[in-house]
Amino acid sequence: MLNVSKLSASYGAIQAVRAIDLSVKVGQFAVLLGANGAGKSTTLRSIAGLHRPVAGSVRLGEREISSLPLHKVVGAGLAFVPEGRMVVAPLTVEENLELSRFSGRNRDNGLIDHVYELFPRLKERRGQRAGLLSGGEQQMLAIGRALMAKPQMLVLDEPSMGLAPSIVDLVFQAIVRLHKEGQSILLVEQNAAIALSVCDYGYVMRRGQIVVEGTPEKLKESPEVLEAYMS
Ligand SMILES: Nc1ncnc2c1ncn2[C@@H]1O[C@H](COP(=O)(O)OP(=O)(O)OP(=O)(O)O)[C@@H](O)[C@H]1O
Ligand SMILES: [Mg+2]
Repeated sequence: MLNVSKLSASYGAIQAVRAIDLSVKVGQFAVLLGANGAGKSTTLRSIAGLHRPVAGSVRLGEREISSLPLHKVVGAGLAFVPEGRMVVAPLTVEENLELSRFSGRNRDNGLIDHVYELFPRLKERRGQRAGLLSGGEQQMLAIGRALMAKPQMLVLDEPSMGLAPSIVDLVFQAIVRLHKEGQSILLVEQNAAIALSVCDYGYVMRRGQIVVEGTPEKLKESPEVLEAYMS
């Protein structure tokens, strides 16, 4: 279970996140929606240990993780797939995956097979350098790397960004399958229609605050969802 309480984050004088509360239960698939600049990425980066929050708490299970650096957050069981993918370009697909396995706490040989089963394209391209992959394949690899840490909580920032619709479908099919397998997920997504068709629960952010939360059925009817995407 991920519990975020009264989390605030700033860039100098800019208060990007203002005392937000959110939680993701074990096995739940939660999404965080909101317009450009609402504070979604800052929230995720603060949760994942890439940005130091100014106030609030982030707990994973019983453990407070808000003051830990990224690698310790991964060790605690939370894996983050940032905006912009960040694969290691000169290494092959398989080397990228292995790197993540050896730096993580898990030595399970079955993990890489699970990633290849989820993304058969990565298996086909296993010997190719990551820098030569298409954007969609790099996104699959970024997700695969996160999974190699066998996380309790998988956190993804706009995995569909800049991808062709057919590739977005492939990436979302994989995320939905992970959820069905029991993976707990927190996803930031710009496409509200896709996000609300796959999640169990959603939050909408506006100017650094959560303005509405609820089931996808509730959020589809919500004026805040429409507003967040029009402002
Ligand atoms: N590195 C930074 N330095 C200064 N201000 C920043 C920085 N990153 C983000 N901000 C500001 O913080 C606010 C929240 O930005 P954030 O990137 O968290 O929004 P977002 O909801 O992820 O937006 P997007 O949909 O564009 O990804 C914005 O006002 C943004 O300009
Ligand atoms: Mg963002």
